[in-house]
Amino acid sequence: METALVRIYKELDKWKHRHLLLLADEQESMVEKYLASGTMYVLEDSGVKAECVVTDEGNHVLEIKNIAVMPKSQGYGYGKKLIGFLVKQYAGNYDYIQGGTGDSPLTIPFYEHCGFTRYDVRKNFFLDNYDHVIVEGGKQLVDMVLLHRKI
Ligand SMILES: CC(C)(COP(=O)(O)OP(=O)(O)OC[C@H]1O[C@@H](n2cnc3c(N)ncnc32)[C@H](O)[C@@H]1OP(=O)(O)O)[C@@H](O)C(=O)NCCC(=O)NCCS
Repeated sequence: METALVRIYKELDKWKHRHLLLLADEQESMVEKYLASGTMYVLEDSGVKAECVVTDEGNHVLEIKNIAVMPKSQGYGYGKKLIGFLVKQYAGNYDYIQGGTGDSPLTIPFYEHCGFTRYDVRKNFFLDNYDHVIVEGGKQLVDMVLLHRKI
């Protein structure tokens, strides 16, 4: 992965990588809510491997609204590379970078390994905001866990 080919760039055609967006957030209407105002980055390494969408939440807080790595390329450090890119890119202008996710063993450890710590919970977020039951790793998602780290 540490090759000269890795490149991260701002993507303007945000629905171009629809399959990746929906991998991280399976309800299209939820993605629509942040996609227009969000900035999208795509990571390429001999083809598209990952994407993320970030928004400015005010008070010098940047939020990761969506992050996904191609299924076959997960576990090779691409997600962490994108986080590292964001931290570098936004250092100086933001104090914190935050992300929200279901209480899932598939995502929380990823954020923790990227230096994030839990700081809050949005109770019933997945029940109140999604039109269907979201299951991850065999477990229904109910609350959203918020994690952050200093930029
Ligand atoms: C979650 C996701 C973005 C992580 O990206 P990734 O490229 O697979 O993760 P990385 O290889 O960069 O892993 C970074 C670190 O997190 C750890 N990690 C990642 N997933 C983990 C898991 N499920 N359990 C334990 N540790 C995990 C890695 O071991 C690595 O640790 P290290 O740096 O200390 O060695 C990716 O798996 C994905 O796209 N999942 C589907 C979409 C999704 O759920 N998006 C998140 C929505 S909030």
